[in-house]
Amino acid sequence: MVKKRLIAPVIAALLCGCGTGDKTTESHTVTDNSPWPKLEPALAKDPEIEKRIAAQLAKMTLEEKVGQLIQAEIKYATPEDVKNYHLGSILNGGGTYPNNDKFAKPEDWLALAEAYHRASMDTSDGGVAIPVLWGSDAVHGHNNVIGATLFPHNIGLGATRDPQLIRRIGEATAREVAVTGIDWTFAPTVAVVRDDRWGRTFESYSEDPKIVREYARAMVEGIQGEKSSAEFLGGEKLISATKHFIGDGGTDRGMDRGDTPASEEELAEIHAAGYIAALEAGVQTVMASFNSWKGVRLHGHKYLLTDVLKGRLGFDGFVVGDWNGHRFVEGCTLESCPQAINAGLDMFMVPSDWKALYENTLAQAKSGEIPTSRIDDAVTRILRVKMRAGLFERNKPLAGATGILGSPEHRAIAREAVRKSLVLLKNNGQLLPLNPKQKILVAGDGADNIAKQSGGWTISWQGTGNSQADFPGATSIYAGIKTAVESAGGEAVLSVDGEFSVDTFTDAERPDVAVVVFGEDPYAEWHGDITSLEYQFGTKTDLALLKKLKAQGIPVVSIFISGRPLWVNKELNASDAFVAAWLPGSEGAGVADVILTDADGKIRHDFTGKLSFSWPLLVDQTPLNLGDDDYDPLFAYGYGLTYSDKVEIASDLTEQGESYAEGRLEDAWMMVWRPRAPWNLVLLDEGSAPIEVEGNVAESSDGNIRVSAIDMRNQEDARLVQWAGLRPGGVALRAGKPQDMSRYLESGGTLSLKLRLDEEPRGEVRASVGCGDDCTGGLSLRESLRQLQTQEWTEMSIDLQCFAKQGVDFSRIESSLLLESDEALSLALADIKYVPGGADSATLRCDG
Ligand code: BGC
Ligand code: BGC
Repeated sequence: MVKKRLIAPVIAALLCGCGTGDKTTESHTVTDNSPWPKLEPALAKDPEIEKRIAAQLAKMTLEEKVGQLIQAEIKYATPEDVKNYHLGSILNGGGTYPNNDKFAKPEDWLALAEAYHRASMDTSDGGVAIPVLWGSDAVHGHNNVIGATLFPHNIGLGATRDPQLIRRIGEATAREVAVTGIDWTFAPTVAVVRDDRWGRTFESYSEDPKIVREYARAMVEGIQGEKSSAEFLGGEKLISATKHFIGDGGTDRGMDRGDTPASEEELAEIHAAGYIAALEAGVQTVMASFNSWKGVRLHGHKYLLTDVLKGRLGFDGFVVGDWNGHRFVEGCTLESCPQAINAGLDMFMVPSDWKALYENTLAQAKSGEIPTSRIDDAVTRILRVKMRAGLFERNKPLAGATGILGSPEHRAIAREAVRKSLVLLKNNGQLLPLNPKQKILVAGDGADNIAKQSGGWTISWQGTGNSQADFPGATSIYAGIKTAVESAGGEAVLSVDGEFSVDTFTDAERPDVAVVVFGEDPYAEWHGDITSLEYQFGTKTDLALLKKLKAQGIPVVSIFISGRPLWVNKELNASDAFVAAWLPGSEGAGVADVILTDADGKIRHDFTGKLSFSWPLLVDQTPLNLGDDDYDPLFAYGYGLTYSDKVEIASDLTEQGESYAEGRLEDAWMMVWRPRAPWNLVLLDEGSAPIEVEGNVAESSDGNIRVSAIDMRNQEDARLVQWAGLRPGGVALRAGKPQDMSRYLESGGTLSLKLRLDEEPRGEVRASVGCGDDCTGGLSLRESLRQLQTQEWTEMSIDLQCFAKQGVDFSRIESSLLLESDEALSLALADIKYVPGGADSATLRCDG
């Protein structure tokens, strides 16, 4: 290790104000020329109901009222709690089941729903009886319940351009949920996604507000019933929570829970499209979003929640928060947030820490910090929705009718949706449709993988941890192909790795064609965020599989499973035909319906799907949206071939561009909130293999180094690294393959990070950058750290030249940062990035 002397180390001891990153000041008013349309309430107020509400309210104690504002999770609140605290609502989060049993039967769900309901109606303590509302994320079918029909995720539905189908999916979902006695679904998501790096892009119908508007109306009408019909909010229907209000799809760089810099016009014209339609359709609840708008968190945004949504847009239902979302509001904590209620939130979603929040809210209501009028308004809204939905009568004709869950009728709708969602991107030489009498090799890890084809929000929150056995009644893409091929007299063989031998097929030495099913593994919110649109950023194993088959002269059909358009030029070049299949859900047979003819060679179903998102030509082409000034995608919005199109797509699409194009060098995020692809956080301890930090905590074998997720300004957005000092060791941000970061060096860039030192360092602390074996360089941070205030967050930046002068080759970086200590140390880290041209007087520099 070469020791380097620091010349005049100047530390930018900028207090980052990390306690709260957000502002609360807003200076907006709704004026006549505001961009928001002026809407009348969708439903005329029913005088009977309004009278009942007033009577109920008059009987309620403040405790009972505050209880209505709380939504707790079934894992943390028992029926007894619901009774004692008069909780307004409960939810099951993604991956929470009755009795903690993933395999809970529909009967178990119903029994629990009944138990909560009975508890809420129990007046033995002299209190009021107000039915508790149970909400669940039925976002692509009743996806938390084993055996339910799983519809394609919203991005696939966007490609169908069929609002009637969306309505039928809403109806079917409502019926399946009603079987389990649940009243309310946290759907639809009406985000209009601008930057496809967002991990929730798959929950969005389209980048085009027009589609989102049409679909939002159809889905809300499917879920709740048509507002003027007799079935509206009736026994076979649910309440819809349209989410996440507002601007969730417009965050900077597609960062989940980030800040949306859109203008007010863009908010109203792009991001509000779905709400306007949902409100017109009579949606009863709206979920506030995690994101902020120009720095102000939506959960505390009085202008948007009260003036715009409840005022200008005429909303008379209630606003529910998102999962602990109130805690990010300026001045709030998880357990106390009068600001949110005062801003117009009506119900907190506070899964586990509800008791403390209840107590504090009650105290604030008593002291007047939350005005009585506001409490009464929130309770009135909640009661209004409960009465409109007939909760007091508990009209549940489908409860317990378990045959409806995953019924053939519903699966048929899902299969139709799969067929219509497929978008044919390439079909050179008219390879598709395939004759089912052929010998077909079915390859790829997505071929016989229902978990993968179903994506996030499937049984578990992220859609991970599921196996084929968790999907009774469902069909994989391979199973669908096999059935169709065998009934036509052909042969389909599954070979995940694409290997075959002369014995694989009967009467043939090799396949006539290969169908390769591959793509993204399941993810959901925040875990799914990426920094680059490049598919398989690290190792391109699927590309290798395609090439291997092509090299043997076998025509290749790619079926691409993904939650968003990705940069797949290389995979496209290596495929003869390429289908974007999105996340089709439980009815994989819908793929075979389209790609295979019948035994006589007749097309069974042509492709009708059209892109509802623009597909990038260049790896750095994001945001990329219809209407952009320099709109130049590979496949434009609306694109989608049919069998009558004789279009040849050149197989020499640019394969360049793993580094960002000229003039578009953004900060390279290595760890912002969480490690960012391709960088992983690894723990390096002498004598043991590197340990990748995957969950919230990781530790080397004898506890010498420990890394845990902590909060800086947001939930788990920083990492605390603790060295016990038994041996030297450290943590690094490492990529699976060398990354060309030279443009950051050339721009005069810096390595920037936020850190918090818990006590003065005793030994040597070094920061280095690594470019493979025998290629590393760094500097001592010891003196600089000594000058820091302990226990305070500080921003530090280091001139990249410091590392280059030590021989680091920035064209092949493997560790963008390595932090080592040889003594005990406790250091928290956050916001680690390379900033182009970022060096200034506050930057740590070093001599040559
Ligand atoms: C998500 C919501 C969801 C809620 C309840 C949140 O983290 O953002 O979309 O409805 O959790 O599971
Ligand atoms: C829950 C999800 C929720 C998420 C938010 C998870 O533990 O299961 O429903 O959206 O937390 O952080």
